[in-house]
Amino acid sequence: MIDQETSERDFFTDRTVLLDPYTWLNDSRAKGRARWMDDRDIVMVTGFAEATDVLLSGDRFSSAIAAAGPTAKLPFEPQGDDITAQIAEHHQKFVGSEQFISYDGDRHKAARSMLTSLFVPSRLRANEIFMRDLADRMVVKAVAERSCEVIGTIATPYVTLVIADLLGVPAEDHEAIFKAVTSGPPPGSLDDADAGSSMMEMAKEIGRLFFGYVEDRRANPRTDVLTDLSCAKNPDGSVPAAQDVVMLAIFLFAAGQDTSAKLLGNAVRYLAENTELQDRLRSDPKLVPDFIEEMLRLEGSTKVTHRLAQKNTRIGDLETPVGSKIVASLAGANRDPERWEDPDAFVLGRPRIKEHLAFGRGAHTCIGAPLARAEVRVMLEQLLAQTSSITLSEAHHGPAGHRKLDYEASYIIRGLEKLYIELVPS
Ligand code: HEM
Repeated sequence: MIDQETSERDFFTDRTVLLDPYTWLNDSRAKGRARWMDDRDIVMVTGFAEATDVLLSGDRFSSAIAAAGPTAKLPFEPQGDDITAQIAEHHQKFVGSEQFISYDGDRHKAARSMLTSLFVPSRLRANEIFMRDLADRMVVKAVAERSCEVIGTIATPYVTLVIADLLGVPAEDHEAIFKAVTSGPPPGSLDDADAGSSMMEMAKEIGRLFFGYVEDRRANPRTDVLTDLSCAKNPDGSVPAAQDVVMLAIFLFAAGQDTSAKLLGNAVRYLAENTELQDRLRSDPKLVPDFIEEMLRLEGSTKVTHRLAQKNTRIGDLETPVGSKIVASLAGANRDPERWEDPDAFVLGRPRIKEHLAFGRGAHTCIGAPLARAEVRVMLEQLLAQTSSITLSEAHHGPAGHRKLDYEASYIIRGLEKLYIELVPS
């Protein structure tokens, strides 16, 4: 049965939807797996097959609004039944157009190829050594204090420094990076009317540092990661503008910080409320990757992404005329009963679990997915190994059955603002 009250709430602005977006998304799917939202000129897609189709079909759906979202006005009036050329012509006028996630076609391919050297297995292995050492030190401290606030004191500094290490940022600049990255609200903030402003604040400081690195490494190449990034060439052999390299680095911090920190928070919260599962993972840590995949499906940290119909087309049964703005709900698709048996239940070791859409699908699939999986796994392994029990702090979150949890005020990001836990040493 459809809960009228829930489905009538506005997904983009109503704070009550933040606590439980899943009921809203399930109700929306019951009304239509792809459907026009009430009172909005936006298509909401919550069916797994339909969302997958949208993400895989870059020839029908442009990413030009991926960063800005569907509530921003298009910078032109769509003409005819194919606006591919119009999108390319006006691309710079889209909010967030400088962000790599909103590039289409060859421009996107070229930018993505510059990042591939960062995410090769050898680089990720070296990064994992940094992760393990940092996670160990953070957990030793928290366990010694018998309690901690996970998001601010562990998850956010941890994932930020891991990206800094991946990019080869010198240790003396880590603090400046951390300050810049944590200065603004998350993407999709309900409190930030200008979708791009938090990104711009962060971009200023990180841009300043990275311009310096790129100029220095281009003039004096060394054998380090910053040199690889600064001197990487486009697929046609040309050298990208320094500004393009800098924007990519900024985007990596933006894309990999809130997302990974919040996933870690969601996973720790779930474990803290399920002590039997905790013990199972403690006695068999090889199950941690399966646990992370099911968390990504059930409590992934990116609820939605956005596309623009560049042709007259269909999503499932729904006709979507050229210029339609689309919200592809990853969280909705990940709980679609046509794809997942008993979709709202936690099941460890679901068959083909990695087909979930938490990292997107297609040309824009999250390039940082291996990194995100590794950093959450390494931190959970440390937390489980160094404790015999992790529980939620009742002083901060109330007793079981009456929990008080504050979720980030963002329609894109799913994650807690604060998470207080208590730890018993192993
Ligand atoms: C749990 C953590 C993460 C989640 C849930 C996540 C989710 C996503 C999703 C859904 C997309 C696709 C968006 C679209 O198709 O419009 C994406 C793209 C991307 N992510 Fe992640 N991400 C995570 C962590 C990271 C990390 C750690 C990094 C890098 C340090 C990263 C870098 C990127 C980049 C560069 C893209 C753009 C790829 C492209 O446009 O080709 N992400 N991410």
